[in-house]
Amino acid sequence: MKTILITGGAGFIGSNFIRFFLDKYQTYKIINLDKLTYAGNLANLKDIENNPNYKFIKGDIANQELVQYIFSEYKINYLINFAAQSHVDKSITGPTPFIKTNIEGTQVLLEVAKEYGIDKFIQISTDEVYGELGNKGYFNEKSPLKPNNPYAASKASADLIARSYYQTYNLPVIITRSSNNFGPFQYPEKLIPLFITNALKDKELTLYGDGKNIRDWLYVKDNCRAIDLILKQGQVGEIYNVGANNERTNLEVTEEILNLLGKDKSLITYVKDRLAHDYRYALDTTKIKELGFKAEYDFKRGLKKTIDWYLEHY
Ligand SMILES: NC(=O)c1ccc[n+]([C@@H]2O[C@H](COP(=O)([O-])OP(=O)(O)OC[C@H]3O[C@@H](n4cnc5c(N)ncnc54)[C@H](O)[C@@H]3O)[C@@H](O)[C@H]2O)c1
Repeated sequence: MKTILITGGAGFIGSNFIRFFLDKYQTYKIINLDKLTYAGNLANLKDIENNPNYKFIKGDIANQELVQYIFSEYKINYLINFAAQSHVDKSITGPTPFIKTNIEGTQVLLEVAKEYGIDKFIQISTDEVYGELGNKGYFNEKSPLKPNNPYAASKASADLIARSYYQTYNLPVIITRSSNNFGPFQYPEKLIPLFITNALKDKELTLYGDGKNIRDWLYVKDNCRAIDLILKQGQVGEIYNVGANNERTNLEVTEEILNLLGKDKSLITYVKDRLAHDYRYALDTTKIKELGFKAEYDFKRGLKKTIDWYLEHY
């Protein structure tokens, strides 16, 4: 029985990953360390709270004593760090918690993992660390880091610190950088869950600028499969981009949501653009494909499943 410490497992991707992993394997114990910020919700894991292979601990990844206690109490084989302040708009109005959790918290986890030893440390990062693209081109894992907002900068900083723990101390770190995830259990502040829940209430869907910014959408279950693959077969010291080549403008995503819900386009309004709003993200995913990854969900299928979930739960 191997033990995985998952941080931020009560959030969107973390809770999907825990469910996916416990469904797939019976030979792992999962410890979920989560501070339960506004974005963390234990209801996301209601169906597995009594699973004998699952344990929840409420706490902050930046609390070194607590993280040391967990490592001393359990033999942690793997750590997957999902915990983060993750909302770009919040990082623009108040960057401090992003520095605390995303940078200092990650360093605490790395330090304690170094102290106690670990088989793999997976740092969950984002395509936003690369900055923005124009209409052409893709970021690969060697592209320079040019984060444009405090959230992205805090994630890029954590990536560099994680890399330094590999280079300096030989800590077996792997970094994953995925594109925008969507799917069930996402707190309705990000575009897709916010617009689905607003449209259900016939509330306005407010697009930044002209709605032409482009994101590359990845259904969360595909990301969980990619992380599982990286945990098993990824090379330490490496970075893996994860994406599904589902590029859409924000306006296209919004129209698709309205279309699937049978709602009128008049719900769309436009507001002043976000500060430093990146125009386009797109990933070259050759490296993860070479590991055997292939996304199973195209955008429309993933969106239908997501909408079905929100229809049932909101
Ligand atoms: N959502 C995306 O589209 C996306 C894309 C690429 C990368 N990522 C990365 O994936 C990870 C998970 O993202 P998400 O969308 O699930 O985020 P989320 O905001 O839904 O969840 C974050 C979780 O971390 C917890 N948390 C926050 N601060 C903490 C702390 N100090 N100590 C312990 N727990 C803490 C929260 O309570 C929450 O449960 C993040 O690292 C994010 O940067 C997300």
